Amino acid sequence: MSTENLDSGLVLDAVRVTEIAAIAASTLVGRGDEKAADQAAVDAMRTALNGLAIDGEIVIGEGERDEAPMLYIGEKVGRGGAAIDIALDPLEGTTLTAKAMANALAVMAWAPKGTLLNAPDTYMDKIACGPGYPSGVIDLDRSPADNVRALAAAKGVAPEAITVCVLDRPRHAEVIASIRSVGARVNLITDGDVAGVIHTADPATGIDLYVGQGGAPEGVLACAALKCVGGQFQGRLVFRNVDEKERARRVGITDLDKKYDLHEMVRADAIFAATGVTKGALLDGIRREGGYIITHSLVMNSSTGDVREVRMRRPA
Ligand code: FBP
Repeated sequence: MSTENLDSGLVLDAVRVTEIAAIAASTLVGRGDEKAADQAAVDAMRTALNGLAIDGEIVIGEGERDEAPMLYIGEKVGRGGAAIDIALDPLEGTTLTAKAMANALAVMAWAPKGTLLNAPDTYMDKIACGPGYPSGVIDLDRSPADNVRALAAAKGVAPEAITVCVLDRPRHAEVIASIRSVGARVNLITDGDVAGVIHTADPATGIDLYVGQGGAPEGVLACAALKCVGGQFQGRLVFRNVDEKERARRVGITDLDKKYDLHEMVRADAIFAATGVTKGALLDGIRREGGYIITHSLVMNSSTGDVREVRMRRPA
């Protein structure tokens, strides 16, 4: 295996892991128990990872060792093989799952060891757009309105024709007002900004831009996906207190104000896999039909540019 690229044989292993996590979480869809749904996905993902011929280290996981018994940051998984960094969210959208709402996913990204940003469990200001635009068309340091104008000009449309995906949170009131001030549409999502960012790279979703503050770990996962399909991303960590700054220092971050771009967050080629738990714009959810469990996944490899949509059926 080259030190820069992962063996493409790992692609199928990656998607099997997200399939297993999504199937486990799906038994808890609509049951109002976020924790149980997350735990089911975590248990299943950990067992699957430990069965693989990899030498994996969790760099984005369920939390720090003292707060997460499983899949904690620094945990080693696998029974030996390719040395890889693993970013994972066994259940992205715990509330979506508990309430049987759209867009819950099991997600994971792999990259050669030492090449994923070890993002702390803090917030991150994010901006993302899909492929095909000149480099630098979006910039976190410009207002949302200015970013909409720049993207619209690059796309050759009026700002009114731009749709921006934003997490529906009170903290985004100004962001939303700024976007609407230039006539653009705002597509509000209740949760799940990994999918929100990925939507910018899929013209079928109608989403051109993602803006707002969400989890930093989710930012790394979204960057791994954009690395595979193209697009631009910038992120900056947001700290609410001294403890969060300390978390950043513990994972080796020295410049707390740094603006990261996609290639600084994912510094080598990556494999990204996601399986739908509930039906969404990106993926169908888990279905149980005629004695079978049916899954719908996406798995991508940035080193080859391969994007696979995988439907798997297995006896229930
Ligand atoms: P969980 O799956 O951990 O519930 O996270 C869902 C999510 O919506 C992420 O996609 C997003 O980055 C983050 O929560 C936003 O955090 P908050 O709910 O605190 O605004």
